[in-house]
Amino acid sequence: MVIQWFPGHMAKATREVKEKLKLVDIVFELVDARCPLSSHNMYLDEVVKDKKKIIIFNKIDLCDRAETAKWKNYFENKGYTVVYTDAKNSNNLNKVIDKAKEELAEKIARQVAKGIKPRAIRSMVIGVPNVGKSTFINKLIKKNIANTANKPGVTKKQQWLKLNKDIELLDTPGILMPKFDNQEIGKKLSLIGSIKDDITPLDDVSLYLIELLKENYLENLNNLYKINVNSDDENVFIMEKVAEKRFKKIGGDYDYDSTIKLLIQDFRTQKFGLITLDNYNFLLENEEQNEN
Ligand code: G4P
Repeated sequence: MVIQWFPGHMAKATREVKEKLKLVDIVFELVDARCPLSSHNMYLDEVVKDKKKIIIFNKIDLCDRAETAKWKNYFENKGYTVVYTDAKNSNNLNKVIDKAKEELAEKIARQVAKGIKPRAIRSMVIGVPNVGKSTFINKLIKKNIANTANKPGVTKKQQWLKLNKDIELLDTPGILMPKFDNQEIGKKLSLIGSIKDDITPLDDVSLYLIELLKENYLENLNNLYKINVNSDDENVFIMEKVAEKRFKKIGGDYDYDSTIKLLIQDFRTQKFGLITLDNYNFLLENEEQNEN
């Protein structure tokens, strides 16, 4: 079973985002700091084109900082401005506003030179589901506002929220699904809650999680379940070790269903500690292979 993609309402949401984009000077794309590449929407680059764009690595409190820092470099080398935030705890949100002003300073200076009185900068938040868009908006304006219409396909009258005298923010975030042809990306998006569980093969997702953990965070995996597996052990064998520790056998067989749910839940509730799912070396190896 593969992850089914792009249902009709998501196509509609994409159209809505394109419409909203026309209204703004700058876009804040939120990605999940645990998988900045997989949760980044490359398709958005085509749509946004001439707009300024800041990539916000949100949920920075949950990631493996050393690994995520490599992704910050990666995006900066491609010409993006990157800001780290922890929207839940309101960390670093003002930095985003400062960066937006910096990005548009030249344009504003040009307008002033022509004798045009610049209006406030108009911005909007965009990103895949569950990266923290509503939280980001609510914390930035210190109110609860970005919930009501935060559903794909649901429209309402747009309002501009004043962040300060120089910058305004659209009150509803733009929800986009990432374009991907790679099931591994889909599985990561499932782990971070961007794709609904009912369209996801959770058995595959949990085995994939084991794969990532055994390769990059073996100690975290062994410590959490008090097991002693190696990175060359089979994923299913590791799953059975976890099952053995946590659940009674059913009719002489491992309780795979409960173990699958447990693994995914433990990732989503940060039981493995600070984890970054997008492994930078893996990307480099792939790029090298593609070049050869
Ligand atoms: P969305 O609009 O992009 O879909 O995301 P939303 O703001 O609804 O946030 C999704 C979940 O991520 C929420 O948790 C939210 O609290 C959490 N979140 C947002 N930003 C951060 C962050 O920087 N760090 C951490 N650790 N979490 C963040 P939830 O479990 O769905 O709800 P709740 O915990 O707020 O009740």
